Amino acid sequence: DWTTGNVIEEQVAAIRELVGDKRVICGLSGGVDSAVAAALVQKAIGHQLTCVYVDHGLMRKGETEQVEKDFVAATGVQLKVVDAEERFLTALKGVSDPEEKRKIIGREFIRVFEQAQAEIIADEGPAVEFLVQGTLYPDVVESGGGTGAANIKSHHNVGGLPEDLEFKLIEPLRMLFKDEVRMVGQELGLPEEIVQRQPFPGPGLGIRIVGEVTKERLDLLREADAIAREELTAAGLDRDIWQCPVVLLADVRSVGVQGDGRTYGHPVVLRPVSSEDAMTADWSRLPYDVLARISTRITNEVRDVNRVVLDVTSKPPGTIEWE
Ligand code: XMP
Repeated sequence: DWTTGNVIEEQVAAIRELVGDKRVICGLSGGVDSAVAAALVQKAIGHQLTCVYVDHGLMRKGETEQVEKDFVAATGVQLKVVDAEERFLTALKGVSDPEEKRKIIGREFIRVFEQAQAEIIADEGPAVEFLVQGTLYPDVVESGGGTGAANIKSHHNVGGLPEDLEFKLIEPLRMLFKDEVRMVGQELGLPEEIVQRQPFPGPGLGIRIVGEVTKERLDLLREADAIAREELTAAGLDRDIWQCPVVLLADVRSVGVQGDGRTYGHPVVLRPVSSEDAMTADWSRLPYDVLARISTRITNEVRDVNRVVLDVTSKPPGTIEWE
């Protein structure tokens, strides 16, 4: 019988057996999946695990702090934070194509890990042989199924693994759906804010800017996204919607009027969806007054954004993310 207790027990035993006395690193993204995967591995092998959090500069407002403070407080995990914003922005310079962005972000991510690995080895001696991934069952299915780690393709936690991967993968969640992962996280004692967190893609805001990713555009999108999240939370809608990406149409401008002046700014798209497992989704029928508040606040508070539009497309045919 499936219970969270059984899953935890089985995985803990399997991880101990697999890892032996080797060292493991795990990338924390700030999301539920990597947090639960890390907590599970931490339970199995304790301080043989070091978590690495790559701040790629594509995170939302407050996300880095949540990992640095709340997650560490809840688990006592060893954490290494790498500030890699400049590196990622440089690598993404001039790139607009979504798959190219994903590949670049995935590649840089792994490179930063390898660097972190080298540093951890230099500090601690024994080789780091394993990498924990918070891959879920739907990711496995969408990547073409398969049984081994080798089958993972571009839809992935880190947005596409490169060929020259040096780690063996541990994927303790690869048989689970999202709601099951949340139950496991709860059972492991992770705080509500982490366990109930809505999904956020590994490539972050990099795939929510249609067009080139720049620091300035990221800052705009971070502000707009923070407002949308704040209002959705205030309206008590967090548990009703699966997630609500906010997308900046950076290459589109439209004419507006604000105060006495003409504006020529960018639109942002609200993409609230309801879903069971992200494989299919329906657009959420958010209350008009909540939409109105989000729209008013974003256009008032975010410089250069003069229009808020609502995405009313289901998946299929749309995907949840725009890229
Ligand atoms: P799509 O856009 O494919 O998204 O309908 C389905 C779900 O997956 C999330 N997503 C990702 N998650 N790495 C992730 O960890 C990724 O590269 C990635 N791309 C999409 C998306 O937010 C949604 O929940």
